[in-house]
Amino acid sequence: MSFPTVRMRRLRASDSMRRLVRETHLEPENFILPLFAVPGEGIRKEIGAMPGNYQMSIDEMVKECTEAEKLGIGGVLLFGIPAEKDERASGAYDDQGIVQQAVRAIKAACSKLLVITDVCNCEYTSHGHCGKIIGNDVDNDATLDWLSRSAVSHARAGADIVAPSDMMDGRIGTMRAALDTAGYKNTPILSYAAKFASSYYGPFREAAESAPQFGDRRSYQMDPANGREAMREIELDIAEGADMIMVKPAGPYLDLIRAARDRFELPIAAYQVSGEFSMIVAAAKNGWIDGDRVMMESLISIKRAGASIILTYFAKDAAKLL
Ligand code: PBG
Ligand code: ZN
Repeated sequence: MSFPTVRMRRLRASDSMRRLVRETHLEPENFILPLFAVPGEGIRKEIGAMPGNYQMSIDEMVKECTEAEKLGIGGVLLFGIPAEKDERASGAYDDQGIVQQAVRAIKAACSKLLVITDVCNCEYTSHGHCGKIIGNDVDNDATLDWLSRSAVSHARAGADIVAPSDMMDGRIGTMRAALDTAGYKNTPILSYAAKFASSYYGPFREAAESAPQFGDRRSYQMDPANGREAMREIELDIAEGADMIMVKPAGPYLDLIRAARDRFELPIAAYQVSGEFSMIVAAAKNGWIDGDRVMMESLISIKRAGASIILTYFAKDAAKLL
């Protein structure tokens, strides 16, 4: 059957009709809002390239989380900028570290909000790389110990979920074993499984003060050209015990979100990263696009592609519109 019997426009005729047949819906509870913790008090410093996002001291962050919880947002993802960085990333796995303190404060104030911690070393190393430098590269196996210690330390502080973003091989298995041994067998791991060496992370490096001081991350993060390899990364992380997996960035990698959805049965998250956010905000500021509509379209596309969990700097704005 085809035209003129078939007329696709019949079901688009009114808002009510469109609503009736809509296939995909966004819900605030599936949004995760990334936040950046800094030492001090009363600090709320806007990130230049990410309008509306701030480096926050813990007291301010607790206010932000209370607001996020009221909006029905599912959770927050914490990054920390320590007072001091060193070669060993010691701030990352310190029980008195900035993220550990933030977790305790947020968990005490917000009972419904999930607190997820990003587990990586790049915010804590003086050189800005995600692991231990041996020679002139990040050493995989030496970095695993730092990551496991960080994950256990986050769990001890009360993190609901740990999310390793480093892209070392074998980290999920090592971390799962360390969490289990330490008594955190019920703390889930959300693995940044298919994480690409992306130029869309530009604004984040200002937010987290984590730009590598030499070289780049292409010896550990994935080549943007590789989709089949992304499926292998995900498969391996699942085999090592990941509870949920992530594709990152989101918008430019919708094909991989879809491929992962068709292939694997566990919950899939996608991270709409800083550059994706900033480009939309910048174009909207120039009056070139309708910011709210492009925001919602970008998010519904990520959901339609197959991600049930969306990490996004738009979490609050989108929740307000829903
Ligand atoms: C840390 C980390 C990064 C992001 C999330 N975790 C930066 C990087 O890998 O260089 C990027 C997030 C964003 O751009 O919003 N490894
Ligand atoms: Zn890192």
